[in-house]
Amino acid sequence: MVKWIAADMQPQTGKTVLVTGANSGIGFQTALELARAGATVLLASRNRQKAEDAMLAITKEVPKAALEFVELDLADLASIRSCAERVVTRGGALDILINNAGVMAVPERMTTVDGFELQFGTNHLGHFALTGLLMPALRRNPTARVVTVASIAHKRAVIDFQNLQGQRGYKAWDAYNQSKLANLWFAFELERKFLRARLKLKSIAAHPGVSATNIVNGGPKLGGTINFRTLLISLAMPFLGQPDSMGALPSLYAATAPDVMGGSYYGPDGTGELRGNPVKVWANTLAMDEVKAAQLWSVSEELTGVAYGPLLEPVQLSAPPIL
Ligand SMILES: NC(=O)c1ccc[n+]([C@@H]2O[C@H](COP(=O)([O-])OP(=O)(O)OC[C@H]3O[C@@H](n4cnc5c(N)ncnc54)[C@H](OP(=O)(O)O)[C@@H]3O)[C@@H](O)[C@H]2O)c1
Repeated sequence: MVKWIAADMQPQTGKTVLVTGANSGIGFQTALELARAGATVLLASRNRQKAEDAMLAITKEVPKAALEFVELDLADLASIRSCAERVVTRGGALDILINNAGVMAVPERMTTVDGFELQFGTNHLGHFALTGLLMPALRRNPTARVVTVASIAHKRAVIDFQNLQGQRGYKAWDAYNQSKLANLWFAFELERKFLRARLKLKSIAAHPGVSATNIVNGGPKLGGTINFRTLLISLAMPFLGQPDSMGALPSLYAATAPDVMGGSYYGPDGTGELRGNPVKVWANTLAMDEVKAAQLWSVSEELTGVAYGPLLEPVQLSAPPIL
């Protein structure tokens, strides 16, 4: 079987892509390769300096790269609103949205500006709100794609709707695993919503296997006592993880390959989906649970105040000009 690599990507000239967490790891590699393929890339980052460093690094490899920084803190609904407003009022279609940013294994329970548990709030609720608010820009391209980056960690997730935000008995890894299951529920339910609304937009999920990135440092460095498992993973990751350029391939494939179907899930082809080139993979049974996905959707609308109903309604065509 032919192994897909970034060089196999079709030209993306004329497309506009927004990548969250584009200043680091998998998001950086995703932005780099999309820029190389000719797309205009909006690097959504919470830190201007880091985004500017990333843009400089991309420009060194791709001198003609079309790059723009958009400020986005997924742990702050006001920041998400102003980022989306900027992209919507910028004009033109948003052809591809890559919901990539994430935080992992935060040792002690922390909260977003709006009081959500940090991993659930950033990884899931932040992207849930962002995608909804970007819908006017996405819908300017009837076949736009939304790619959401999940993880094999979803397979360890248990969900407790009575304790979604870890108020009772917070555990760092449980919170992360749950947020990654939530990413999958979101991606699959969004696809069902597109189908029900008879829209041709696609929602696809991807995961990078295990990739050596900053993810093992970001969460644990936020403070608190780091547990043994987190310590072990952070020590082993640089040796066991595949390069972030490989970790980005499933996202890139999901975002651009012509044969990708809405509602599908891509990950590496190696043993245990830990490393390799992108192939279609399968989420576990819980991730395919449509009732629970719909339940999380309602909770997410309530918590973020972003209601998708009106955003998915048929576009009102303006009256034809009177000749
Ligand atoms: N690496 C792996 O093995 C692995 C495995 C499975 C899934 N994933 C998933 O892959 C995605 C990318 O992670 P990575 O491995 O590339 O890690 P990374 O190098 O740490 O990158 C994470 C990115 O997310 C950004 N981010 C974190 N919190 C944010 C917030 N509140 N607002 C905006 N941006 C925020 C980070 O920004 P800062 O630089 O400002 O912190 C960074 O740009 C995540 O969703 C992760 O769950 C990774």
